Amino acid sequence: MTATDSLPRTAGVYDVERVRADFPILAEKVRGKRLAFLDSAASAQKPRAVIESIAHTYTREYANVHRGVHYLSERATVAYVAVRGKVQRLINAAREDEIIFTGGTTDGINLVAQAYGRTALKSGDEVLITEMEHHSNIVPWQMLRDEKGIVLRVAPIHDDGSLDMDAFQALLTEKTRLVAVTQVSNALGTVTPIRDICRLAHAVGAKVLVDGAQGIPHIATDVQDMGADFYVFSGHKLYGPTGTGVLYGRAELLDAMPPWRGGGDMIRSVTFEHTEYAPLPHKFEAGTPNIAGVIGMGAGIDWFTALDRDGLDAHEADILAYGTARLAEVPGLRLVGTAPEKVAVMSFVLDYAHPHDIGTILDQEGVAVRTGHHCAQPVMQHYDIAATVRPSIGAYSTREDIEQLVAGLGKVREMFG
Ligand code: ALA
Repeated sequence: MTATDSLPRTAGVYDVERVRADFPILAEKVRGKRLAFLDSAASAQKPRAVIESIAHTYTREYANVHRGVHYLSERATVAYVAVRGKVQRLINAAREDEIIFTGGTTDGINLVAQAYGRTALKSGDEVLITEMEHHSNIVPWQMLRDEKGIVLRVAPIHDDGSLDMDAFQALLTEKTRLVAVTQVSNALGTVTPIRDICRLAHAVGAKVLVDGAQGIPHIATDVQDMGADFYVFSGHKLYGPTGTGVLYGRAELLDAMPPWRGGGDMIRSVTFEHTEYAPLPHKFEAGTPNIAGVIGMGAGIDWFTALDRDGLDAHEADILAYGTARLAEVPGLRLVGTAPEKVAVMSFVLDYAHPHDIGTILDQEGVAVRTGHHCAQPVMQHYDIAATVRPSIGAYSTREDIEQLVAGLGKVREMFG
């Protein structure tokens, strides 16, 4: 009996083959081989509903939104504004106007750093992040540090990749004005105790920005229950188009923030002397938006929320457990990130081959994985490594994908081991 024989099977609970049938790209042959797409943490594949939504917008219902009295502008506007309600329901925001459309997670964090950070934070105020953040949740705060003199504190991780909560609490003081932390680490898969983090931060009067880029595809998310003051995510990791995303902020905070970008659509009135800004959410959405992208993101949310949630969670937990157990059987392989609370990501290194060589050989076998530092160089520094191989899963991943990965690693061993 192998370590994987005892894992529960989910057949019948969640029909992954039906899910896969929604994704045309999964039927593509890659280098003549079956595609094992294990790179969803970088960007998820798109279901037919999203592809068709984008084609439909451009084919049948496209014009600029909020600007025309004509038929096409009205049709596009109706479809576009409906997405705000879809996002509100997805994350259980109290109000629809707390949903700001952005270009993605990075855009959302920069918006908070610039619009909130530059006005609500002053020199000497502390922003607390963690060692497992990706660059999008590090660099905007460093830019603010250099400009405003805020102090950036970093809560360390344990060697298993979990957050050191004792250290986190020790760093959380009356000086902490903002905690910016990920819901799930992109490089390690660690799930952070986000409700505790929000509760502890609020106890010292700090606000919390939660980076949900890797969290929302894998964890049912309720921003009010969580206690987030700001929550950001990307449409493209949630089966939607690239260049889309969301900033959720509590209305009271968003109302008090100045706009970040000036332009059309974010104003109530403009003279050369004075501009009055539009109310939420438009104050933060200057210029012609990503119309078809936002509508496509809405189609992705519809597709995602129609999945059986318990079935999805059980399926992804099964694939993660199966993959982790199968990888642990590969000679010379070390998993990087083994926190008890994990989702979707199985980073590893092999003691006889470089991650980029491994990624190249796996590619020849039809296996798509990300290799490198995953835009989280401090995580690599913690483990004193330059890079990992990072298989990551989504709603369509299967045990067959994992077997193809393990077989590909057999080829790596033949060449390098
Ligand atoms: N942040 C994305 C990743 O983890 C791009 O791959």
